[in-house]
Amino acid sequence: VRLAETTPQHRLTAIAQGELAIASGKVAMVLVAGGQGTRLGFDLPKGMYPIGPVSGRTLFQMHVDSLRGAMRRFGVSIPLLVMTGPSTHEPTVRYFQENANLGLKPQELIIFQQGTMPAIDATTGKILMESTSSIALSPDGHGGIVRALAKTGWLDRAQDQGIEHLFYAQVDNPLVRACDPLLIGLHRLGQSQATTQVVEKRFATEKVGNVVNLDGKTQIIEYSDLPEEVAKQTNPDGSLRLWAGNIAVHVFDIEFLKRSCQSSDALPFHRAHKAVPYVDDQGNDCIPSGPNAIKLERFVFDLLPAADRALVVEARACEAFAPVKNAIGSPTDSPETCKAALVDLHRRWLTDAGVKLDEGCLVEIHPNWAWDEHEVQTRLDKPTQIHADTYFT
Ligand code: UD1
Repeated sequence: VRLAETTPQHRLTAIAQGELAIASGKVAMVLVAGGQGTRLGFDLPKGMYPIGPVSGRTLFQMHVDSLRGAMRRFGVSIPLLVMTGPSTHEPTVRYFQENANLGLKPQELIIFQQGTMPAIDATTGKILMESTSSIALSPDGHGGIVRALAKTGWLDRAQDQGIEHLFYAQVDNPLVRACDPLLIGLHRLGQSQATTQVVEKRFATEKVGNVVNLDGKTQIIEYSDLPEEVAKQTNPDGSLRLWAGNIAVHVFDIEFLKRSCQSSDALPFHRAHKAVPYVDDQGNDCIPSGPNAIKLERFVFDLLPAADRALVVEARACEAFAPVKNAIGSPTDSPETCKAALVDLHRRWLTDAGVKLDEGCLVEIHPNWAWDEHEVQTRLDKPTQIHADTYFT
């Protein structure tokens, strides 16, 4: 669904459908947070990274606050599943415990751990050893969610409770609107089993997955797998042929996920060439100077082609996508670019509601104060002018 091709009426109908589904308890949310976050250079789980431009709230807090905003708005409890990995599980569990589950009730929070795969020596094909008695393991990719979810038994319980859809997001993108009613509404209206939100790529070789239609099936080709000349192909009007960038926001039907769990090869493995420390045959610790190993990962978006019906929905990047991937000072996808996007969005919400803001002042809106632009409009206590950095909470 391209933005330019939807009418306001169609969007309103979809939003109403989505809101109804959320309010009647048909939606749960999952946040994937099992990655090692090496590029950011932060030792703790990425979800604990402070990102609120004025408040300093963490990525986990931003997501949970958005979800609790949706609960307040629709008067319903929405379960949150958090998928961790071997290196993020313990600290994540502790973080939620020490912070009173960030306000979630115990029954609203499920933290579960994804699986692992052995790392393989790239030259010999043998499994690498981490110590003389243990093999080197790494997370099995976010596609590991299918197997890990099946293990928890949650999918069956969810269905018994009447939950039909799982709203999926990555912990690194705080611009996501938890359980976006428009996306869920379009998913329902389109009778889709797997829906994915995309943004128009800013340039041909942007480091995002490319959402394509191949032989009638929706698929995502990772930027690293796409030849540059293909990425740069254009339409007669000069626009990019492969314009749709994956922002990793999906809606999956629970029924579809259950079906996928039943087949062990529902998701293929992707190979990544990485540096993995190991212990050699003589028991010596070896630190490789470059990539020496093959890690095997599954990608959740490989579920898309298996859906009987899949839908691709465009969103505006400025409203939906500002990931934190790279370290402070990087030109793209850094903490600074993410904070700037959050401030820009909230400044726009306020400006559209008639508030005048001084140039350069930072604003941040907590979802309890206003969950979306419409709630900003209806706030009677909003100021007419803002002269200093302000946190609306
Ligand atoms: C990912 C997508 C890319 C998309 C981009 C948008 C893949 C392969 N690519 O790229 O198509 O355009 O996000 O931001 O996903 N994670 C786990 N377990 C794992 C590995 C990752 O939970 O084993 C989680 C991470 O915590 C993170 C997310 O998945 O929240 C993305 O992982 P990352 O490796 O950062 O993907 P990107 O290369 O940034």
